[in-house]
Amino acid sequence: MKLPDSPKTPPWLQKIQYITNPLGYMDNAYQRYGDIFNAPIIGNHSRVLLVSDPEGLQQLFTRDSKEFYTPSNGVLQMLVGDNSIFCLEGNRHKRERKLLMPPFHGDRMRGYGQTICDLTEEIFSQLTPGTNFSARSVVQNISIEVILKVVFGIHEGERFHKLKQLMVEWMDSFASPLVSSLLFFPFLRKDFGAKSPWGYFRRLQQQIDQLIYAEIRDKRSKYNPSDTDILTLLMSARDEHGEGMSDEELHDELITLLVAGHETTATAISWALYWVHKQPVILEKLLRELDSLGDSPEPMNIFKLPYLTAVCNETLRIYPVAMLTVPREVKEPVELMGYQLEPGTRVYGCIYLTHRREDLYPQPKEFKPERFLDRQYTPYEFFPFGGGARRCIGEALAIFEMKLVLATILGNYQLELVDNLPVKPQRRGVTIAPAGGVNMVLKERRQNQLFAESTSIST
Ligand code: HEM
Repeated sequence: MKLPDSPKTPPWLQKIQYITNPLGYMDNAYQRYGDIFNAPIIGNHSRVLLVSDPEGLQQLFTRDSKEFYTPSNGVLQMLVGDNSIFCLEGNRHKRERKLLMPPFHGDRMRGYGQTICDLTEEIFSQLTPGTNFSARSVVQNISIEVILKVVFGIHEGERFHKLKQLMVEWMDSFASPLVSSLLFFPFLRKDFGAKSPWGYFRRLQQQIDQLIYAEIRDKRSKYNPSDTDILTLLMSARDEHGEGMSDEELHDELITLLVAGHETTATAISWALYWVHKQPVILEKLLRELDSLGDSPEPMNIFKLPYLTAVCNETLRIYPVAMLTVPREVKEPVELMGYQLEPGTRVYGCIYLTHRREDLYPQPKEFKPERFLDRQYTPYEFFPFGGGARRCIGEALAIFEMKLVLATILGNYQLELVDNLPVKPQRRGVTIAPAGGVNMVLKERRQNQLFAESTSIST
């Protein structure tokens, strides 16, 4: 049976194009082959389909665990370990999702509002007016503190500072195209000592592992089942045989949440800062909307603001942090968009190409938050957090954090972009981030601050 068309260049060359210029590679393939094409760009598979047709995506997401399964994912597995939720399947995957969800939803999540605003204010207040800074680095500092303090319950102390510093260094190593290539070409992963790219990467990873294992040992020794941090929750869980999780399983889940939970959100917020400062009209509208809440607004009222919501959605549309979903592999022969797919075929939802469809998003290269006020998109037209059985479990927290951090920064500080040059998207590991990190300058504190006293925000 015929497979969807594929670009004609040799697979190894396509892989290099995809690593060095992922958006260019996908744009070109879409122009030639449209809604579904074969892109042998990840792993050593010859049948790797990228889908950007909403009907195809609907089938993929709604029949996720029936017709497809998620194969172990070499790149993610290497980063987060075999026992990570990313690598689990079937009932174990379902159980783990149920276990991990509560800290990222409902009252638990709403309770983080105050701390997110306070952390933002604390970190921004350390910047000196008139000096340049990389928005991505500063915001990453906020998002890693949110995940470590708020979700993990790890507070100030030597381990907290060391873990934070190593995580940032580890994630920053992905900014190098060389390290990103190592993720995709296993044969390049050679440890020639601490100064070689792979040696450096692995040593950071080992040091992080040691700190996480130390945290697990500590927590076990002081175990209190009524604590609400995520590590206690995971330690309390029992499988169908009454067994708890091993240290290794706990480690893999913690590192998963650390990696997935701060890097992506920081990238999204730094893109948003770029877009709203690139178009002052958008910033003015946002400030007017924030003003309408009066002094010391409730985080949930900020969360509900329609224009802020539209700005965040448009940010996640135009350069979705994750360009692709995780892969789905065909279990039994299945039909998708008129093609008969054989077991072993891998299918990715292409978030980037779907978000750039002219029929859904006229003038797709323009940043226009209004499109989200004028139209409701389905979960197969707009899906920055994926869908189906694998939909991101941190979605609610990521959006909540994005809105509160943006509102606190914009409401309290006057910032400017250092220059008027367009910021280009660049691969950062498996994500797409602003090249150079968005260079900004802090002009001054606003006179009528939204959060005159950050501690006055009530939750
Ligand atoms: C802007 C921020 C974020 C973006 C764009 C994002 C995007 C995604 C995407 C596209 C997937 C794959 C979904 C699929 O294949 O259908 C995913 C999965 C996942 N995300 Fe996120 N994510 C973000 C923030 C977070 C946060 C804050 C956390 C946790 C603290 C998190 C934890 C996870 C986990 C654990 C999975 C795996 C779910 C599973 O396999 O069942 N993410 N995310």
